[in-house]
Amino acid sequence: MDNLPYTALIKFPDIIPEHCDEHIVRRLTSMRGQFADQPAYEQLLSNEDMLLYEVYAFIQPEVDGELDSGISIIHPGKVGQEYFMTKGHFHSILDTAEVYYCMKGKGVMVMETPEGDWNVKDLNPGMLLYVPPRWAHRSVNTSDSEDFVIFYVYPAHAGHDYGTIETQGFRKLIVDQGSGPQIVDNPRWLAPEDRK
Ligand code: 6PG
Ligand code: NI
Repeated sequence: MDNLPYTALIKFPDIIPEHCDEHIVRRLTSMRGQFADQPAYEQLLSNEDMLLYEVYAFIQPEVDGELDSGISIIHPGKVGQEYFMTKGHFHSILDTAEVYYCMKGKGVMVMETPEGDWNVKDLNPGMLLYVPPRWAHRSVNTSDSEDFVIFYVYPAHAGHDYGTIETQGFRKLIVDQGSGPQIVDNPRWLAPEDRK
């Protein structure tokens, strides 16, 4: 991984980079236990290990000053009432921020601090989102038909802490109870005082 300037063409309309360092593919099986409606999850999985989202990542040396970037594509769909979403994570180096830029589709970013403060931002094409240090983040596709495509950039040494989210969940879920996207409480969320 030489450290020379590089370019990568991100072609429209599918917004897939012509080359990248890592193509991550996340299917239903990789999200076991993350969706609220377990019977609906098992039902879907019994038919097919559906593709939920993909990441085309540009990866730099994990040293201070370097930046990783890439494209996340969250495909449309639901598990029960809950929209397709990413795993979500804190950065292992908690004090590291991230910038997102929405290129296509529509969705929201669900965010939360270790203290349980939460925030949800709508994202539409052309919108930039700043995720401050210490805020975990999860991308959710709220379209019934279109891919949700976002460009991201963050410090290359930040790392990913998935375990905390897998254990305590996000405080808020994004569901469709018949009138489009809604923010609801996660009944399985573990409040700070209830965590081991
Ligand atoms: C990161 C970014 C972003 C994220 C993807 C997939 O820190 O790398 O937030 O690239 O990883 O959108 O989301 P998950 O990492 O939560 O699966
Ligand atoms: Ni991140």
